[in-house]
Amino acid sequence: MKVIAFGASSSRKSINKQLAAHAANLAAQSNENTDIEVLDLNDFEMPIFSQDREEELGQPEAAKTFFKKLGESDAIIISFAEHNGSYTAAYKNLFDWASRIDQKVFQNKPMLLLATSPGPGGAGSVLAAAKGSAPYFAGEVKASLSIPSFYDNFDMENSRLNNEEFQQQLSTAVTDLLK
Ligand SMILES: Cc1cc2nc3c(=O)[nH]c(=O)nc-3n(C[C@H](O)[C@H](O)[C@H](O)COP(=O)(O)O)c2cc1C
Repeated sequence: MKVIAFGASSSRKSINKQLAAHAANLAAQSNENTDIEVLDLNDFEMPIFSQDREEELGQPEAAKTFFKKLGESDAIIISFAEHNGSYTAAYKNLFDWASRIDQKVFQNKPMLLLATSPGPGGAGSVLAAAKGSAPYFAGEVKASLSIPSFYDNFDMENSRLNNEEFQQQLSTAVTDLLK
């Protein structure tokens, strides 16, 4: 069982990357045969997508690598950062390039969709958008969870949620992903 996880953000200190990594660690703890790989979107930086650039460049290696990694996984965990109510430019750009390889970007993989932000909204808008559109991109969403007020609810030193209710909800979501 191979689990790919990433924060949909290129921030070096991404709180969503931390949350995605924590969820991936829970998956590894629940099954000793689970391998996890946490991606960093900075490793997939590409020019801003346009059809003109696509004609010039074809399919960039970074997009192909990302698509292949998703295809070789058995489950995908994404935690979405919210910029102005929507996806970060870094994620949307990578997604747009990947969708030109195949619109079935998520390749029928089971998915856990997460989102967090420092505020009380917990990046709920972008999570709703991602959840609503996943089926169009062959994503099988098994569970989703927004964590509000990240800095109040996440113990950065020990990389875990310190709010027991959220920790329980995340454990259940990870179990649903791996069923
Ligand atoms: C340009 C910009 C727009 C933002 N818009 C929102 C927003 O709409 N909703 C929200 O909850 N947080 C918003 N934030 C705050 C982010 O949630 C916060 O920066 C968070 O750390 C982003 O996640 P990341 O650390 O994983 O990149 C915004 C931040 C930036 C820089």
